[in-house]
Amino acid sequence: MKLLVIHGPNLQLLGDREVSVYGTVTLKQINDSLLKLAKDLNVELEIFQSNHEGAIVDAVGSARKNYRGILINPAAYTHTSIAIRDALAACGLPAVEVHLSHIYKREDFRQHSLTAPACVAQVTGFGTGSYLLGLRGLVGYCSRKSSTPKAKTARKKK
Ligand code: DQA
Repeated sequence: MKLLVIHGPNLQLLGDREVSVYGTVTLKQINDSLLKLAKDLNVELEIFQSNHEGAIVDAVGSARKNYRGILINPAAYTHTSIAIRDALAACGLPAVEVHLSHIYKREDFRQHSLTAPACVAQVTGFGTGSYLLGLRGLVGYCSRKSSTPKAKTARKKK
């Protein structure tokens, strides 16, 4: 199973960026942790970071060809991007939204996610743990999704 991980704007600055909010973890460390977990879960990951809304829309829009699900931290676009929300809704893949910080405990403008309703779940506030929990959840969701129709067919045949 191959999954796409998308990191939104400014996440390449992690480690230096607003350390009091996001801590000192770097994007490379997050990606290394994700790749390690992916190996344990026996899934493949492709990881993509962009500061550009259109590039993220393009990545989501073409994901169906190569991936079974999407793990996404849309970062600031969470709160502003109808285009990314629509792409997630249109792509037909399950997506899990993750945030390092607890967005519902922060400024008012961060307390609303436009993208979460187009996702199967959201994990927020656990730092790197949000990504790892999100990946576990997404893999479980995709595995159940792919095994359910076959299981039903098998049962019907009996
Ligand atoms: C973030 C939260 C967003 O509000 C913010 O714009 C980010 C990071 C998080 O992971 O906590 O860039 O998505």
